[in-house]
Amino acid sequence: TQPATPAGPARDAFTSSFGVLAATLGSAVGLGNIWKFPYVTGANGGAGFLLVYLLATLLVGLPVMIAEIMLGRKAKADAVTTLRVLAPAGQYWWLIGASGVLAAFLILSFYSEVAGWVFAYVFKAIGGDILSKDPAQTSAAFGALVSDPLQSLLWQWGVLLFIGGILLLGVAKGIEAVTKRLMPVLFILLLVLGVRSLMLPGAAQGLAFLFAPDFSKITAEVALIAMGLAFFKLSIGMGTMMTYGSYFRDDQNIPATTVRVMSADLFVSMLAGIVVFPAVFTFGFKPEAGPSLLFITIPAVFASMPMGHLFMVLFFVLSAVAATGAMLSLLEVPVSVMVGRFGISRARATLINLLLLGVIGASCALSNSVLADVKLFGMTFFDLFDFVSSSILLPIGGIFICLFVSWVWGKDKMMAALSNEGVLHNRVVVQLLYGLLKYVTPLLILLVMLKGLGLL
Ligand code: PFF
Repeated sequence: TQPATPAGPARDAFTSSFGVLAATLGSAVGLGNIWKFPYVTGANGGAGFLLVYLLATLLVGLPVMIAEIMLGRKAKADAVTTLRVLAPAGQYWWLIGASGVLAAFLILSFYSEVAGWVFAYVFKAIGGDILSKDPAQTSAAFGALVSDPLQSLLWQWGVLLFIGGILLLGVAKGIEAVTKRLMPVLFILLLVLGVRSLMLPGAAQGLAFLFAPDFSKITAEVALIAMGLAFFKLSIGMGTMMTYGSYFRDDQNIPATTVRVMSADLFVSMLAGIVVFPAVFTFGFKPEAGPSLLFITIPAVFASMPMGHLFMVLFFVLSAVAATGAMLSLLEVPVSVMVGRFGISRARATLINLLLLGVIGASCALSNSVLADVKLFGMTFFDLFDFVSSSILLPIGGIFICLFVSWVWGKDKMMAALSNEGVLHNRVVVQLLYGLLKYVTPLLILLVMLKGLGLL
């Protein structure tokens, strides 16, 4: 437990260094690694895209993540309160936190839907009902699930209840305890599946799809996709890392933890690509985008493989584990804001958010059935929520976080916070970070965003 601060009473927090790492990595690693990263990379130029994504991660993701965690730990409060207490009175920086709450709702709406399918598929995989080599059949099975409004809703609500139940247990006994156990499981499953996939005859072709560089595909739009992916992947630009930062211990080395999380997340993404594509090519399937890759191609691929039943179960358990840690952090953003701002109990805040999400999320759950024809800006709710969050809200949040830290909060406070209020050993690193946050990162985000949206 953290002692009382000017921002509020004593509060729950992470208890160990490993717990901090597990929870933070748990937030970063998620469905993004499994169904966004591999396909987006393969479809947008392989190694060329990877290079742009790496640049976005280093020049944008890393500085913003460090800044967020640092601010959260300093204020030891939810995202809105953090910016309220750290900013000069009368300024509106807390709106970053408010936009984060909105982003959390939008992302959770479609994310909990995909997660619902993943959880459903764990059971379907165990039961063997999706074990067919014929994509027409796996496609029909998936279609039957998503076009059934009741089933879709129930799986989504079930997942939300599961996540809410863990959050009710608290930060240390809920989030930390669960992610500490799940993250090692995730790595073991991923390694087992990766080795299996690399032993397949189509491994080279799959790796070529993922890594062969094609720089002609790199356009402004692709750069925006890469940057949006970096934001989404690292859970930044919306106060999630700020919220988790507020549970960090005072002796935690923030830059080192951030670098570890970033590298591990990158490793998981690559490995996910290595699990998926060699198998897809070995059995003569076409790599496809988004949900159909995960729920139509993958089952057919595993069905074609010796011992495929077992590996398919492992694959969906892996996906469910990854989704859990990410959703915990997403839901924690609005829950902690309600507790911090309105002083209501954690239990009540969780319940209210679940009810709100049950309603808003339904627009996504039903976007393949009842609401299939309802489109805004030519997109279903599902696609719209994804686009608005990754390509607009998170980058804008990122810009303002950079500006706040460097122009308002200032270098001295940053130095003190990053050295854990002690002697700073790596002055040069902080200097560099400060320069990035003040000029490079916000300008880069703005440029990529405007260009990618066709506004420049
Ligand atoms: N980082 C998660 C993933 O890649 O699946 C998604 C996510 C979690 C985004 C938490 C944003 C967030 F605040």
